[in-house]
Amino acid sequence: MMPASQLFCADCLAVLSSLPAASFALIYLDPPFNTASRRVATNGHFDDALGSPTDYIHWMRPRLQAMHRLLSTEGSLFFHCDWRLSHHVRLLLDEVFEVERGEGQFVNEIIWRYGLGAARSSRHLPRKHDTIFWYARSRNYCFQPLREPPTPAMLNKYRHHDADGRRYMLSYGRRYYLKEGKLLSDVWDIPAISPTARERVGYPTQKPVALLERILTLASRPGDWVLDPFCGSGTTLVAAQQLGRRWVGIDINPDAVRLARQRLMDAAT
Ligand SMILES: C[S@@+](CC[C@H](N)C(=O)[O-])C[C@H]1O[C@@H](n2cnc3c(N)ncnc32)[C@H](O)[C@@H]1O
Repeated sequence: MMPASQLFCADCLAVLSSLPAASFALIYLDPPFNTASRRVATNGHFDDALGSPTDYIHWMRPRLQAMHRLLSTEGSLFFHCDWRLSHHVRLLLDEVFEVERGEGQFVNEIIWRYGLGAARSSRHLPRKHDTIFWYARSRNYCFQPLREPPTPAMLNKYRHHDADGRRYMLSYGRRYYLKEGKLLSDVWDIPAISPTARERVGYPTQKPVALLERILTLASRPGDWVLDPFCGSGTTLVAAQQLGRRWVGIDINPDAVRLARQRLMDAAT
């Protein structure tokens, strides 16, 4: 097992093969999305740009195979992507997790509806979501069901608190308590980080901590090891730290690693 949480600046492929097998409860990856047509493939790094989907899958396959080796029997992998590649990624995940042979499991296709952003095209509907595929190493994966948080309207309605902190509303002198929310579904409304948000650190593809907290709470336990092989500004690592998980983060970009290190230090003080 790893001695302590660690941050690496490298191509994740090199680091993944050096980590102990079956040691991670959860892997979340948010790799470059193939957003540009420009081809920039130098030393295993492609900066949000690689030619065709076939090139992308060819590049991703050995990295995903190396991640699969690292998952414990209860382990889960969350692959964050969007409409550009999701159909290719899902086929690759089926292949690597050997879903047809009944080895690994497809668990969910999570739709992250982020809301923000200008709607520019007059030729298609505004694109307002990303896709996160959840796959598990075996049938015995860790799953801790969550409830939907109450909406702001509900919180406003049930605005009183009793001595135990439970929310209620008053109607004709009677108390009506706020019930538990519905079971969390596979469509998640979590706002993207706004330009003025306090958590923004200036990394262009930074994801909200709330998104990672939800993923980690659903499929890992305190003390578990969590891996983010494309960690960018370190959002997964910050969420893991806050939730008492141990973590390994990897990014090829030294600026990202510097930022992630600073964020982790700030979060610890
Ligand atoms: C979409 S960003 C991740 C953003 C991150 N989730 C966050 O919240 O900040 C993708 C990251 O992958 C990194 N990257 C690209 N190729 C890589 C490789 N071969 N190994 C490790 N990291 C790589 C990029 O430097 C970039 O920071």
